[in-house]
Amino acid sequence: MAAQDSHTTVLLQEAVDALAIQADGCYVDATFGRGGHSRLILDRLGARGRLIALDKDAQAVAAATRIGDARFSVVHASFAELAGVLERLGLEGVDGVLLDLGVSSPQLDDAARGFSFRRDGPLDMRMDTSRGQTAAQWLETASEAEIREVIHDYGEERFAKQIAKAIVAARRGAPVVTTGQLAAIVGAAVRTREKNKDPATRTFQAVRIYVNQELAHLSLALPQILDLLKPGARLAVISFHSLEDRIVKQFMRDAARADLPIRLPLRERELPQPRLRLIGKPVRASAQEIAANPRARSATLRVAERTGV
Ligand SMILES: C[S@@+](CC[C@H](N)C(=O)[O-])C[C@H]1O[C@@H](n2cnc3c(N)ncnc32)[C@H](O)[C@@H]1O
Repeated sequence: MAAQDSHTTVLLQEAVDALAIQADGCYVDATFGRGGHSRLILDRLGARGRLIALDKDAQAVAAATRIGDARFSVVHASFAELAGVLERLGLEGVDGVLLDLGVSSPQLDDAARGFSFRRDGPLDMRMDTSRGQTAAQWLETASEAEIREVIHDYGEERFAKQIAKAIVAARRGAPVVTTGQLAAIVGAAVRTREKNKDPATRTFQAVRIYVNQELAHLSLALPQILDLLKPGARLAVISFHSLEDRIVKQFMRDAARADLPIRLPLRERELPQPRLRLIGKPVRASAQEIAANPRARSATLRVAERTGV
């Protein structure tokens, strides 16, 4: 595997352990990437086990087709389409689902994908290059207010207003079509420097989240997953920033709380039961893992199990 095509899997053992794999179970790795988690899941499955992988990125799907294991299949789709994907495969329920959110190293490392402010390339940022607007197309037509809102909300960027203004001023001269151009515009507009953080970090994260509709897809996927999990099946989600972690945390908490209609004269066992049970506390990477892979620093793993309801 070329260095540019490899991805160091985050929380590998922890996430696969969290799925409590049964040898003959059916599992979904909804974010295949380069298959670090998938390979360990396959190691733990027996001959009758099954693993379905999804990825939005055609290059990840191409890597998955090289796995060559009869128990494994891959589908080029967003996890927001999971219910339909499984229905087409004739599957009504699964024993566990893993989401390892965000971008992979091959996506970041390949300048041509346009995710990186460190490597100059076309300003694309789409995980699925077969559809949707590129970052450059969006920045060409979006209003200043829209750009400001995205950078503020998805990048939690204090200088969103100044950055949006600078982008709109720059595009009057020539369209912003490369990652280098965008990084330079943002660098000049952000007046203070955060320690060990490029000034373009937050803006690139924001535009990427917007272009890929990352939070919307996550919000669409979680209720589908809940319906697809068999009783006792696990959901494990690794998130990399507070916006997606908040969605996961809130969803799991809500599903793990019985909605009690006030003042209904019900006995304990007649009360509505929650559909999820939270498993353990959120898991963070060890100091050792972070030292070996700085990307693990911001990872949080949350796990929940489907109840019998
Ligand atoms: C952090 S990487 C996964 C790495 C993988 N666990 C491994 O060990 O190699 C995230 C992957 O999820 C994919 N992805 C992100 N959002 C997605 C979505 N909505 N649907 C499907 N795949 C998605 C990305 O294309 C990327 O390949």
